[in-house]
Amino acid sequence: MNIYKIAVDGPAGSGKSTIAKIIAKKLNIMYLDTGAMYRAIAYKILNKNIKIENINDIVDMMKNTKILFDKDIIFLDGINVSKEIRMPNVSNFVSKVASIKEVREHLVKLQTNIANNNSVIMDGRDIGTVVLKDAQFKFFLNASIKERANRRYKEMIEKKIEVDFDNIYKEISQRDLADINRKESPLAKASDAIEIDTSTMNIDEVVLKLLSIINN
Ligand code: DC
Repeated sequence: MNIYKIAVDGPAGSGKSTIAKIIAKKLNIMYLDTGAMYRAIAYKILNKNIKIENINDIVDMMKNTKILFDKDIIFLDGINVSKEIRMPNVSNFVSKVASIKEVREHLVKLQTNIANNNSVIMDGRDIGTVVLKDAQFKFFLNASIKERANRRYKEMIEKKIEVDFDNIYKEISQRDLADINRKESPLAKASDAIEIDTSTMNIDEVVLKLLSIINN
């Protein structure tokens, strides 16, 4: 059996997770949503009222935190938080958490452990550049901000989460800036990644494109 290590990076709303999930199913390999891990930590920091400057408390909290995935569901300390981690309060806060070196080190360790034991497709911001530097396939998905905001808006409405398009647009633009400009592992295309602009492509087209490269 082939061992797959596939990295999918890109900005918020570029279609990474939807595409990676479908490809995982088609190749019968594991899918890991690394953004959900950053969101889970951000959610717990908010819930526990830990101050963002208080790195020691954050590190202690992470040591006593269990993050588990069961397909699409994420469990934080045994509780399903799949919906809570997508709420605007977490989305607006998560970039700050993802810029903390200690948080990144902790989560990257968990991610590389998973990759050592499984064929996996991971999506995030630093997968091709840091987590799976040795991945056989690296993709960088991109799309215009307007299109990405549109997709995120529809996704939230489908999940019955009340949102406002202008707020989503603003949140995505701000998150792009924070993710690209942060010091620790900024969002970047790995030099050996294949960049695909998905602005005018539908999901099936992007999946076919990636599969044609993987199966070539
Ligand atoms: O993909 P997402 O929107 O769920 O990601 C949430 C946040 O986590 C986003 O602001 C970027 C950050 N992130 C990161 O820094 N590195 C990753 N590998 C994945 C996500």
